[in-house]
Amino acid sequence: MEVVIKKTYEDVSVASARVVAEVINNKPDAVLGLATGSTPLGLYKELIRLHHEEGLDFSHVSTFNLDEYVGLKPDNPQSYHYFMHENLFKHINIDPQNVHVPSGTTNNYPAFCEWYEDRIEERGGIDVQVLGIGSDGHIGFNEPGSSLGSRTRIKTLNKQTIEDNARFFDKPEDVPVYSITMGVGTILEAERIVLLANGANKARAVADAVEGPVSARCAASALQMHPETTLFLNEDAAGKLEMREYYDWIQEKKPGAPETA
Ligand code: PGA
Repeated sequence: MEVVIKKTYEDVSVASARVVAEVINNKPDAVLGLATGSTPLGLYKELIRLHHEEGLDFSHVSTFNLDEYVGLKPDNPQSYHYFMHENLFKHINIDPQNVHVPSGTTNNYPAFCEWYEDRIEERGGIDVQVLGIGSDGHIGFNEPGSSLGSRTRIKTLNKQTIEDNARFFDKPEDVPVYSITMGVGTILEAERIVLLANGANKARAVADAVEGPVSARCAASALQMHPETTLFLNEDAAGKLEMREYYDWIQEKKPGAPETA
């Protein structure tokens, strides 16, 4: 795991967007794994800027989102379909046929989950997966206890996640209890992973993910098994890392390191 600590949220957004843009520039038909939540908003804003100002081209790009709330239709403003459309897709030149977000309203979840996994495979797998992290260590909606080999499936949300996400809903009772999410095993198959974290409320989960044991208690700790994962953290989110100085040292020495690829 590469740990990159930046002063501000804006720096996290720009640095992570650079990774995604580089993947697209090297492979115009790249497959992106995308996340919702407040954290990747700055990354999406930067990708939109790169599209408008520097011609970043999404015309052959495919996307697969991590998750969706069960029961919310795509036109519901709290749905992740809606979020992605408003915050990214409607601002770039992506072909709607190449956009995939799990369905929260299918009448056959097992069949849909299998279909979703098959589509990812058919497109050649995910080239770069963007992740946030829950205050309980979740990635996607893989809550504590999720199998580290799990695939796309229905997951019951943790009460902590429901509380965390209540800010987006009129009433806490409106937050759905179930989600459909890519599994930890699905996520680990991505070629590259970038995880973003912002704010002190993520510091514990980040420290558990990076420095704790690999454990289903903190689903993000499974990323320790992934060979190409970079975490972009702002100062607050890095606040509980015990080896903070070491991570900074590695970044400081990086320009002089021999090429590895
Ligand atoms: P947030 O959510 O970006 O809104 O904090 C992150 C997550 O739950 O994965």
